[in-house]
Amino acid sequence: MPLSSSSRVVVIGGTSGIGLAVAQAAAATGAQVIVGSRAEESVKRALGALPAHASGAPVDVTSSASLAAFFAGVGAFDHLVYTAGDALARGLIADYDPAVARDFFDVRLFRALDAVRLALPTLSGTGSVTLTAGAAAFHGGAGRLLGSTVGGAVITAARSLAAELAPVRVNVVAPGIVRTPLWSDTPPEFLDRAGGATLLGRVAEPDDVAKAYVALLDQDYITGNVTLVDGGSVLV
Ligand SMILES: NC(=O)c1ccc[n+]([C@@H]2O[C@H](COP(=O)([O-])OP(=O)(O)OC[C@H]3O[C@@H](n4cnc5c(N)ncnc54)[C@H](OP(=O)(O)O)[C@@H]3O)[C@@H](O)[C@H]2O)c1
Repeated sequence: MPLSSSSRVVVIGGTSGIGLAVAQAAAATGAQVIVGSRAEESVKRALGALPAHASGAPVDVTSSASLAAFFAGVGAFDHLVYTAGDALARGLIADYDPAVARDFFDVRLFRALDAVRLALPTLSGTGSVTLTAGAAAFHGGAGRLLGSTVGGAVITAARSLAAELAPVRVNVVAPGIVRTPLWSDTPPEFLDRAGGATLLGRVAEPDDVAKAYVALLDQDYITGNVTLVDGGSVLV
C-alpha cells in the first residue's frame, strides 16, 4: 500500500545519518513517523528536524526490555526501518578480536533481529521490514572484514525472514559510503577519495539512500530483496 498520511513508519536509528534522512523522506509523504534511538538528546534533536506530525522515544536496542517498551508505546504500525549502528570497526585478520567482532555484530544484526521479533505483534500483516547492510557485503576488501561479513549476514537473514513472514515484506538497503556522523572521526579526504572510487564520482548523501528505503516501503511487490545504493562502487 503506498505511503500516505495513514501509514505509520517506525525508524529505529532514525535520529541521525541515514535513519534521520529516511524519517524525513517518509514524513514528507505525509506518513506518521516515529523515530527511536539510544540517547534522549538525539531523539529531541531529530524531532527538531522533522515535521510536527513526527514523534519519537528513546530505545536502546541492546536491551530486549527497552525494545519491548518502545513498541508498546508505539502501538500498531505499518513499516519497520532499522538503521541503528554504532562505531565502525575496520581492520585486517591479523587484528581480529572475537569480542570486538561480537560487539560489531550486536547492534547491526543480533539486535536488528530482536527488533523484528518484538515488532511482530504490532506490525501490520500487510506492512514491511527494511534492514540495513552495506555495499561491502558485495565487494569485501582488505580492512572491511567485519563490515562485509555483517552485511552479508543481514542480507541472508532478510531472505529467510521474507520467506517466514510473508505477506509482510522484508528487504535490505545496502549503501556504499554515505556522508553521515558515523564518519565524524575520519578525515574528509578519506570520503573524497572513496567518492572518487565510485562510477558517480562522489560518496552518497543521506538523502540519496533514504529514497531507496522509501521506495521499498511504498510499493507492494518486492520482498527478500537488496537495494544497492553505492554509486556503482562495486563495479570499479
Ligand atoms: N554511513 C555509511 O557510510 C554507511 C554505509 C553502509 C552501511 N552503513 C550502516 O548504516 C547504519 C546507519 O549508519 P549511519 O551512517 O546513519 O550512522 P549514524 O549517523 O551514526 O546513526 C546511527 C544511529 O544508530 C543509533 N544507535 C546506535 N546504537 C544504538 C542503540 N544501542 N540503540 C538504539 N539506537 C542506536 C544512533 O542513536 P544515538 O545517537 O541515540 O546513539 C543513531 O541514531 C549503520 O549500521 C552503518 O553501519 C552506513
